[in-house]
Amino acid sequence: MKVDVLLGLQWGDEGKGKVVDVLAPRYDVIARFQGGPNAGHTLEFEGIKHVLHTIPSGIFHPGKVNIIGNGVVIDPVIFKKEIDALTAMGVDISRNLFISRKAHLILPTHRMLDAASEAIKGKAKIGSTLKGIGPAYMDKTGRNGLRVGDIEHAEFGARYDALVAKHKELLSFYQFDRPLSDYETGFMEGIQLLRKMNLIDSEYKINDYLNEGRSVLAEGAQGSLLDIDFGSYPFVTSSNTITAGTCTGLGVAPSKIGEVYGIFKAYCTRVGSGPFPTELENETGELIRQAGKEFGATTGRPRRCGWLDLPALKYTIMLNGVTKLIMTKPDVLSGFSSIKVCTHYKFQGKQIDYMPYDIVTEIAEPVYTELPGWTLPEDGVHEISDLPASLSSYIDFLEAQLGVPVVIVSVGPDRSETLARDPEFAS
Ligand code: IMP
Repeated sequence: MKVDVLLGLQWGDEGKGKVVDVLAPRYDVIARFQGGPNAGHTLEFEGIKHVLHTIPSGIFHPGKVNIIGNGVVIDPVIFKKEIDALTAMGVDISRNLFISRKAHLILPTHRMLDAASEAIKGKAKIGSTLKGIGPAYMDKTGRNGLRVGDIEHAEFGARYDALVAKHKELLSFYQFDRPLSDYETGFMEGIQLLRKMNLIDSEYKINDYLNEGRSVLAEGAQGSLLDIDFGSYPFVTSSNTITAGTCTGLGVAPSKIGEVYGIFKAYCTRVGSGPFPTELENETGELIRQAGKEFGATTGRPRRCGWLDLPALKYTIMLNGVTKLIMTKPDVLSGFSSIKVCTHYKFQGKQIDYMPYDIVTEIAEPVYTELPGWTLPEDGVHEISDLPASLSSYIDFLEAQLGVPVVIVSVGPDRSETLARDPEFAS
């Protein structure tokens, strides 16, 4: 068997949590491979909304194995809150959640360093979620980090103290002193909880599953345009959010990658700073924000909104090797008389359809095509055939431009609001 991958093709918040939840019945194993509690994967069913930060979105399906891979960074404080909420709902964590010993820990001082580093950047700040992601990955690549497996060792306390002492020195450079005890109690409670969980060597477990013929879905976090290598650096997150991150974040070989599902919204959003060529800083952007409830699931920040950007999508489809596209939230654009799509950029006096090296200091000006808008029926859309002709034409246009089929269209947050364009995905 191969690992299918599902990831976001834009700047995150494409609706990955919902779609993983919908696809979960087709898989035996759901695994997160990068990122951490900067993610907020929202799932809605039976009228209740759930937001997951670290735990894979297959957790609500009894009998499915959920794995937090080695590429993830875990904040024990946030992790405990997630576990407590799931346990209160009766979700059986003890049997279906496994955590890689090689996943790195986010310490309270990582969060403090994140806040201090952002504060010192002033106007140049990245707009980080301030969850300690950057500093935790810095310690990982700097070979200073603490891993989940370390909590099983007697000297964990000493290793923790040594790293905290280093962090305190750094914090004094930033002249940032917030009492550590604010965070530390919760951290140690989280560590106690983690010690009771199923800690595994996940690279073996996943490869064993594949060899036994079990199906695995890898769940991406953030979005491809926030990738540390290929996003608009430095306005990116600190991990590889693209398909390649699945290999390093789970320990699976490139030859083991199967389908790659790329999710995109019918428009674009971005939260935090950084270039956004099609951003609408006007009434239309505000209309999309309100209709799409575009406020961060993790931070509550208003998301920046804009039209769909095809050069950016073509770029991320290429980087990820996307084989199937999933479009979300066309319902949000219902009622617009026309829709714009950016097909090219004007850049340094030329018209281009690729992503140039620097769109941070240079301007990539969008060149738009205007297409007829759509209004969805008031009693909802239940079948793909219920879609207005202009929305179907919009999707046909995108498929022709992108060269990859759109197999699923999501028209609302609930599991039930999911339409299959390809009969293979009919429930
Ligand atoms: P960090 O990963 O929290 O340091 O944030 C770096 C950048 O990525 C900021 O612009 C964040 O707003 C953005 N970001 C991080 N995680 C997410 C996510 O899950 N969805 C959308 N944006 C994110």
